Amino acid sequence: MNKIREGIFWTGYIDWDLRNFHGYETPSGSTYNAYLIVDDKPTLIDTVKFYGAQEMLRRIREVMDPSKIRYIISNHTEMDHSGSIDELLKYCPNAEVVCSPKGAEGLKEHFKKDWKFKIVQTGDVLDIGKRKLKFVLMPMVHWPDSMATYCEEERILFSNDAFGQHYASHERYVDEAGLDPVTFEATKYYANIVTPYGNQVLKVLEAAKDLKIDMICPSHGLIWREAKDISHIVSLYKKWANYESDNKALIVYDTMWHSTEKMARRLFENLDKAGIPVKLVNLQVTHMSDVVTDMLLSKMIMIGTPILNNRMLPTVAGLMMYAKGLKPKNRFAFTFGSYGWATGGFKELETFCQEAGWELIGEGVYLKFIPDEADLKKLDEILPLIKNKLKV
Ligand code: FEO
Repeated sequence: MNKIREGIFWTGYIDWDLRNFHGYETPSGSTYNAYLIVDDKPTLIDTVKFYGAQEMLRRIREVMDPSKIRYIISNHTEMDHSGSIDELLKYCPNAEVVCSPKGAEGLKEHFKKDWKFKIVQTGDVLDIGKRKLKFVLMPMVHWPDSMATYCEEERILFSNDAFGQHYASHERYVDEAGLDPVTFEATKYYANIVTPYGNQVLKVLEAAKDLKIDMICPSHGLIWREAKDISHIVSLYKKWANYESDNKALIVYDTMWHSTEKMARRLFENLDKAGIPVKLVNLQVTHMSDVVTDMLLSKMIMIGTPILNNRMLPTVAGLMMYAKGLKPKNRFAFTFGSYGWATGGFKELETFCQEAGWELIGEGVYLKFIPDEADLKKLDEILPLIKNKLKV
């Protein structure tokens, strides 16, 4: 039994096998967290993906008869959290579904059912007996319908996707699983899911700043309960939402005949010798969801591509399309690559960088066929500019 407080239980589903979440690689699996509050009006906060419904029901039954559930709070319509509402309602047909106005629209559109809805706004309070639940709408963190639920008596924030991590484990708390591995997954989660919505995250942090919080219960992964861990993740969210990054460089490339690789390695050597923190990433062996995590953490992004059919290599194009959507702003970028006879893809790469919100530094360096030492020297010229931009 997963009791997180007297009368409050974790009744979620552990998705041990999940390795891909709409294109985001999830090597650690995930959980879909549902929380059952046993009070005068028993309330379930969020459900789980459709295939976890029976495991969720089994966990609920360990605590109480599901037919007694009075409210199902749907903090977010996305199907990893609302996917079992329909199944659950078979066992508690009189339960009301509590959600934001956009949540009600989205749930009706997803399920084509007209359940009993209770629509709430920021500041509204749901009295469930000994406890009162307050709602904070979080539009675009990360869907229009998203909201969080706060219980003042317990000082718990049920934050839905915010502060979540794709991390399957038997442990329920960050301090049990270890702060470092959880932070790693929370960082990847923010990079791949939340990055475009920095301004909205800042608004939510402002709206929540006066709440007394002893526990943050997200809808994925581990629960934050130690004060130091809570301030750690909140300060990281503030930093990321302000598009701040570390003074380090990321060199990411793909290569056809090792020429662009030679260039990438020359850049790496230069930065390494200069003592600049730098990571070298080959797209042939690295998934783009890991690359955008490094983009979140790096002030300088250096991208290299060979030319194929006058375009960027498709792996680089795919990465840039993804990065353009996520828009980790306030970054510097430098482009490089090798070509045979056509250079059209380099212009595309530069345009993608600008559309991702990055400031291009210097002229891109593009070298014909196999670069020799004289060619590679052209890459050395960018080093002073990188030092200047990174202030190292
Ligand atoms: Fe975890 Fe936006 O769903």
